[in-house]
Amino acid sequence: MSRLQITQPPPRPLVAASILSADFAHMARECTDVLGKGADLLHVDVMDGHFVSNLTMGVDMCRALRRHFPDVYLDVHLMVERPGDYVDMFAKAGASLLSFHLEVCKPTRPDGVDAAELIGRIHDAGMGAGMVVNPPTGPEGLAPYLDQLELVLIMSVNPGRSGQKFIPEVLDKARWAKSRIGPGTRLEMDGGLNPQTAPQAVAAGVDVLVTASALFGAEDRAAVIRQLHEA
Ligand code: DX5
Ligand code: ZN
Repeated sequence: MSRLQITQPPPRPLVAASILSADFAHMARECTDVLGKGADLLHVDVMDGHFVSNLTMGVDMCRALRRHFPDVYLDVHLMVERPGDYVDMFAKAGASLLSFHLEVCKPTRPDGVDAAELIGRIHDAGMGAGMVVNPPTGPEGLAPYLDQLELVLIMSVNPGRSGQKFIPEVLDKARWAKSRIGPGTRLEMDGGLNPQTAPQAVAAGVDVLVTASALFGAEDRAAVIRQLHEA
């Protein structure tokens, strides 16, 4: 499905274009543009209006992107209360990887997600699995699952919208995760990344840089991607 092998350590940081800052009325054109300029994958932010107070895009956007871009890696970030409800839908819609938040899992939420079970379901559906932590959340709850994940995602802004300021305090969590994950697990950071902040993330071990506003809002998108690759 996708030519990118996420389980292989990349020779340089991967750039994940977060389409939340693309022009939604010209989505295919926007994606073609950033992919042509070197973005390695597309990051799809799904929000349910409950986990975060915003609504963005869902399964149908994923399906449309897959139809238009058969080989592109689609990294779907679920900012939703009940990620388990969407596994089969996103698998059928062509998602490459699904990530869900630690904050909606047991034991934080007694009636929440069983993370091990959900990771198993995501894998059985043929996708990579990722877990995400918000800036105020400690990373320790990820520990039991690290060897089952293709991706660990450290949020560097509070999720809900693009265009926010990078929170440098999360870099300690990236270092914590980097020292515990194996070579088959990517370490992604999301929020406020640009050519100025990305080098700090990469120095902390991040190898997938998500970028929305700094990329889609740039005059010279190719230059931004190049600078992130070299971060
Ligand atoms: C935030 C989303 C991010 C967001 C990043 O809730 O998960 O992917 O689009 O936006 P920037 O890069 O503008 O901070
Ligand atoms: Zn995201």
